[in-house]
Amino acid sequence: MCPSQTSLTHSRCRGEHLNPEPICRASSPGPEHTSSAGISSAATLRGEPELVQHPPPHTHTHPGMPARSTFGHYENINIGSPEVLEQLLRQEGKYPMRSDMALWKEHRDTRRLPYGPFTEEGERWYRLRQVLNKRLLKPSEAALYAGAIGEVVSDLMVRLRDERSRSPSGVLVCDVANLLYRFALEGISYILFETRIGCLRRQVPAETQHFIDSINLMFKNSIFATVFPLPSPPLAPSALGPAVPVPAGKTLIDRKMEELEGQVERGKEVSGYLSYLLASGRLSLEEVYGSVAELLLAGVDTVRTSNTLSWALYHLSRDLGIQEALYQELTAVVPPDRVPGAEDIPKMPLLRAVIKETLRIYPVVPTNARVFWEKDIVIGDYLFPKNTLFVLAHYAMSHDETHFPEPERFLPQRWLRGYGSPHHPFSSIPFGYGVRACVGRRIAELEMHLALARIIQAFEVRPDPRGVEVTSVSRIVLVADKPINLEFVARPAAP
Ligand code: HEM
Repeated sequence: MCPSQTSLTHSRCRGEHLNPEPICRASSPGPEHTSSAGISSAATLRGEPELVQHPPPHTHTHPGMPARSTFGHYENINIGSPEVLEQLLRQEGKYPMRSDMALWKEHRDTRRLPYGPFTEEGERWYRLRQVLNKRLLKPSEAALYAGAIGEVVSDLMVRLRDERSRSPSGVLVCDVANLLYRFALEGISYILFETRIGCLRRQVPAETQHFIDSINLMFKNSIFATVFPLPSPPLAPSALGPAVPVPAGKTLIDRKMEELEGQVERGKEVSGYLSYLLASGRLSLEEVYGSVAELLLAGVDTVRTSNTLSWALYHLSRDLGIQEALYQELTAVVPPDRVPGAEDIPKMPLLRAVIKETLRIYPVVPTNARVFWEKDIVIGDYLFPKNTLFVLAHYAMSHDETHFPEPERFLPQRWLRGYGSPHHPFSSIPFGYGVRACVGRRIAELEMHLALARIIQAFEVRPDPRGVEVTSVSRIVLVADKPINLEFVARPAAP
């Protein structure tokens, strides 16, 4: 589930300074700027689809200025500079809105499914987040799940060893993202439900496989359903509807709910996130249901953590110097007979830098969005009336050489203290910003740090000997254009 899924996230992520004319100058709003939408009339924008392709020849381009474009039936103002982005996001109100989420809401409404933090808006969203943030948002709270994540990482290591031993060379693992995806799904399910769902078994249970298939289908379809607006056949809304995996995850939630309700009624002490939500008494059952479903979905959609881990391993395999430095850092903190834990992570700056650099090059959500429905927005000399849809071009910003010299190079060192000049704080914000930012950030980071540390402790990771180059493509989120295959060569004395 991509935050900007109703707005952009198509392949043109980079530098969308397409029509940088001011939309409404605060000081001199001309007649052409007075449409009710306040941007320009929809007809004008729809009549100029070439705007998306070519800047008008006489347009005076200011680097970083907001630019106008269209995607499907959406009209966007693109933000491609961290300075402008900061000005924009600092004006967020109490209830930030990502985009209209029409497709998702349609799906929930048709099936009478409750909304969760992703689809809910306004006061109701705020109330949900107040409850959900607890036990998730602070690193110290996420550390509560370190034991569960550690257990799942151990199973990942077993699976990894099994996969490599079955390859002809005894060291090659094909499509590591697939394996890491199963790890991420197992991890988030375990945290939410305290139940193992068998993703890391050699034979994945049918129910779990159905859930995985539903997520994949949803992503395949949703980009089309976004471009071809509701209710135009044949793609929307039914194309997205059956594919959204909430019903498939429903069984999991229902089963755990029943179990936990009984425990809560009997006054039994419960742990785990779903248990906390049920026991808190601050959300209705419907709200708990909607929230858990969307947390589960957001936690695995688009293989966020697994994608990031795959790219990190891909780059480390191609830069043995950095990999060795990482191994040295690890061995200095964690003795060889012990597995790394949450308490070790703060002592490993390079490990954290590897993940930050990976998320900079491959921001899982390459473009995000905001609709400022509470008030008008002023950026520099420009006034944007409320309800303007802003598309935040994160990929373009985190690949901008003004902020990140040699932007295409994997250089985790740039995140270490004392390295070069600091970049703008809004130039790479992979988990979003403000009160609407990612609620699963701390869990995701813990999962990625612990898994990466364990893999590097046990193996030297080497590239596919066939020398396959992998690049990223946008499929709503950024994914690899082909499977990432890697060799895992066992290090001596790994636990
Ligand atoms: C590498 C891993 C992840 C990345 C890069 C990521 C990134 C993001 C981003 C960019 C947003 C939008 C923030 C904004 O609009 O300002 C978001 C929202 C969200 N994420 Fe994550 N995420 C990750 C993992 C997770 C996990 C593991 C969970 C579940 C535990 C999760 C749950 C959510 C939810 C529920 C939202 C919607 C929050 C709201 O609208 O209030 N994410 N994520």
